[in-house]
Amino acid sequence: MQPRLLLDISTADLLSIASPVGLANSTACDLGVFKSRRTALPCLSARSGFHALLQTLALPAKSPIIYSAITIETMVAIAHEHQLATHFVDVDPATMLPAPEALDALLTQTSAKVVVIAQLYGCVSSLQAHAVVCQKHGALLVEDCAQAFSGDFHLGDAASDFSLFSFGPIKRFTALGGGVIVGQDAERMQAIANLINTWPRKSDAWFIQRALKFLALKIASIPFIYTALLRSLSALGQDADALIGSIARGFQAGRITPQLAHRMSPRQQRLLARRLNNAKHSEARSQSAMQSLHNAQQHLTNVSLQRIGTASQKNAFWLMPVLVLNPKYDPAKVVMRKLALCHPLAFALVDQLSHLCALLLGIVRALAAAIRALCRHRFDSFCCHRPHRFEAPMEPAQPSQIASRARAYCQFVVERFCSRVGSQVCEPRLPSHTQ
Ligand SMILES: Cc1ncc(COP(=O)(O)O)c(C=O)c1O
Repeated sequence: MQPRLLLDISTADLLSIASPVGLANSTACDLGVFKSRRTALPCLSARSGFHALLQTLALPAKSPIIYSAITIETMVAIAHEHQLATHFVDVDPATMLPAPEALDALLTQTSAKVVVIAQLYGCVSSLQAHAVVCQKHGALLVEDCAQAFSGDFHLGDAASDFSLFSFGPIKRFTALGGGVIVGQDAERMQAIANLINTWPRKSDAWFIQRALKFLALKIASIPFIYTALLRSLSALGQDADALIGSIARGFQAGRITPQLAHRMSPRQQRLLARRLNNAKHSEARSQSAMQSLHNAQQHLTNVSLQRIGTASQKNAFWLMPVLVLNPKYDPAKVVMRKLALCHPLAFALVDQLSHLCALLLGIVRALAAAIRALCRHRFDSFCCHRPHRFEAPMEPAQPSQIASRARAYCQFVVERFCSRVGSQVCEPRLPSHTQ
């Protein structure tokens, strides 16, 4: 089985985190490919950059803000935590961008002063027409490029006021987190830099712990380990997707803005600089994405896989979503089938091995359940024979009171536990020290 996601970071990059070299000058961050651009600032994540921007704008409560209609939940949560009223403009599946006319209509209706447009799934097109509409309404255009970074492929649209980039774990050239905000307005960027500089730094200990988690995830994504792991987790009744998702998640549930208001740790900043200095777009990736779709379509003759974003001006294929017209389609089966067709022997071996692992795990699980049941039984019978252990008197009590309480407690134990395991109950004897 192939993992759904491979972390886009080499083991050498991961191991470089441990090196003590170059940590002395941790205040300045070398932004590599972004050096040639307008003002650019590093931040803990793209969302941290956006939070800093909204904070410096200090819009009055209930001010409207417009988002292109496909984005991540917490980008919207940030606006809510800034007391803003959110509005959404639909995206065209051909470009994955809103039509400028639709944006114009919504700006007329809401008078929003901030518009956030996401370049989705690696599809990138010019935002010139959207910028013209925003200028007409006196609104700032924020380009969300969290899914669009691929080396020098796209470093922010010249027409947008701000562009946000993400280097989170599931992104191209990941630094296991980190973001960059690029801006046209030097004064506003200085205000953002001043604000970010007041935020506390994350510690290197936190980052090293995070790196270890991702190193484990990288090892777990070797196909045969991944297959065995997936089978084992499902034998244990665990949801592998949820587990991987929880590991990859950068922030916890609850209010997001306090979590965003931090700077990167020195080691994370150094890793981001390393990644940005070596980030080169690869055309081969696009070719391989197209080839995969072609292969999948050939094996699924009765299913129509429809690409989206086909009218975008360029595509780095961060993801390649497809619209599936046949609801019975199961992508997992396609991957299994593809592997079976490419490497029949490897597939058979991995399949058998993972079945064996699942069987072994089932046995271990049954044994654990038996031991647990046995221990519970022992504990219950222990409770039945020593009810007074739970009856430490807080103040001197009469022997008759103690005896009646012990009897009541014993009754409680009988009802709660013994009926379940069928134990015998002795009449409680009072311990000598209570008499
Ligand atoms: C469209 C979009 N915007 C913003 C973000 C947030 O990026 P970060 O995790 O760096 O805050 C993401 C992350 O996946 C995203 O997909």
